[in-house]
Amino acid sequence: MAYNHVRNFLLRRPSLFLCSVRLTSLCSQACLQCRIPSQSDGSFFELESFEVVCRKLYKYGTRILILSGGEPALHPQLEDIFAIAKKYRFRSMSILTNLYYSEAQQDKVIGLSAKYGIGIHTSYDGLGDTADRLRGAKDVQATVERAMNRINELRKQGIYQRKPTATVVISALNIDQIPDIIQRLQDLDWNLNADLYRWGSINHREQDVLKLNDKAKVIQTINLIRRTKNLKTPLWYYDGLLKYQAGKMKKQCPYLISPTFGSKFFVHENGELHTCMDGSLGNLLNDEVKDIFRSQPWRDMQRGFINCQGCWNNCFTVSSRALSYLHWPTIRQLMMMKSNRT
Ligand SMILES: C[S@@+](CC[C@H](N)C(=O)[O-])C[C@H]1O[C@@H](n2cnc3c(N)ncnc32)[C@H](O)[C@@H]1O
Ligand code: SF4
Ligand code: SF4
Repeated sequence: MAYNHVRNFLLRRPSLFLCSVRLTSLCSQACLQCRIPSQSDGSFFELESFEVVCRKLYKYGTRILILSGGEPALHPQLEDIFAIAKKYRFRSMSILTNLYYSEAQQDKVIGLSAKYGIGIHTSYDGLGDTADRLRGAKDVQATVERAMNRINELRKQGIYQRKPTATVVISALNIDQIPDIIQRLQDLDWNLNADLYRWGSINHREQDVLKLNDKAKVIQTINLIRRTKNLKTPLWYYDGLLKYQAGKMKKQCPYLISPTFGSKFFVHENGELHTCMDGSLGNLLNDEVKDIFRSQPWRDMQRGFINCQGCWNNCFTVSSRALSYLHWPTIRQLMMMKSNRT
């Protein structure tokens, strides 16, 4: 396996070290910013297909598996999915879930995550009516916080052993709530990931009402986020973001800079392998991963990466360049996080 990674590194081929699997595009929310549920044909990853995908990914080199969606917790055979994933001994497994479903379902998802050692990452975009508006659902804050408190109870009992993370996508609608959101997450002792609203990808929805046009307010908010104790997003990312937005920094594309360990891939519920760009590279149910990275669709996609206007977002940029971590504030932040880990 180590040999595979070295070979991929020398050939500048992806290792799929971190891979995201979309269990369904169906969702329990209808967020203003997101287009994924509207792409759904109502299907879920089938168990047999999921097994094939896990086997191929593990064999090829995947060590960090992320279960996502849509809303992955809607999968009707979630325990079977977790059990299959566990068999492959990935180094780390997480579920990205909005935690927005019935109490019984919350308890089930949280209990299964504890049982199978799966990290919980949730979205926490707003408080009160703002949360409902952003997430296209009712009583979002209360529903999600009920699950967060339940997770904390299991943490206290030592049943759930990882420190959970909440991601806030900052937009014009919630930017004034960021101080309160940070405080809420600190009170809960959760990690924070802070990203900015963006559009342009097939998964995102362009909404004028979300666009961050007040640059001074964005800088003020980023400065506040930078001082947050449990911040997971590396601090160098924000320095770069501000320079990128001011036109003083070029795009930082992981598919070009760090294809082996930094680039991110997404397997859809029908087995197709995707990148950040539109279009499938192949289907893991029929194709071998190594053949996909020797195929014409991959070569065409690589040309697309070069021609891409660029991006600077924490879903992609933070894994793109190892040297970016040689940044004293980020090193100090990582050391603090290590010492605070529960
Ligand atoms: C697609 S969701 C899937 C997991 C789950 N449904 C959730 O919302 O947490 C993964 C992440 O993408 C984020 N996201 C969706 N649309 C976005 C956009 N336009 N800009 C930035 N992040 C976005 C969501 O807020 C969420 O944190
Ligand atoms: S961001 Fe997550 S919760 Fe919101 S619609 Fe998209 S997939 Fe669903
Ligand atoms: S959007 Fe462009 S710059 Fe960003 S990760 Fe994708 S190809 Fe690279």
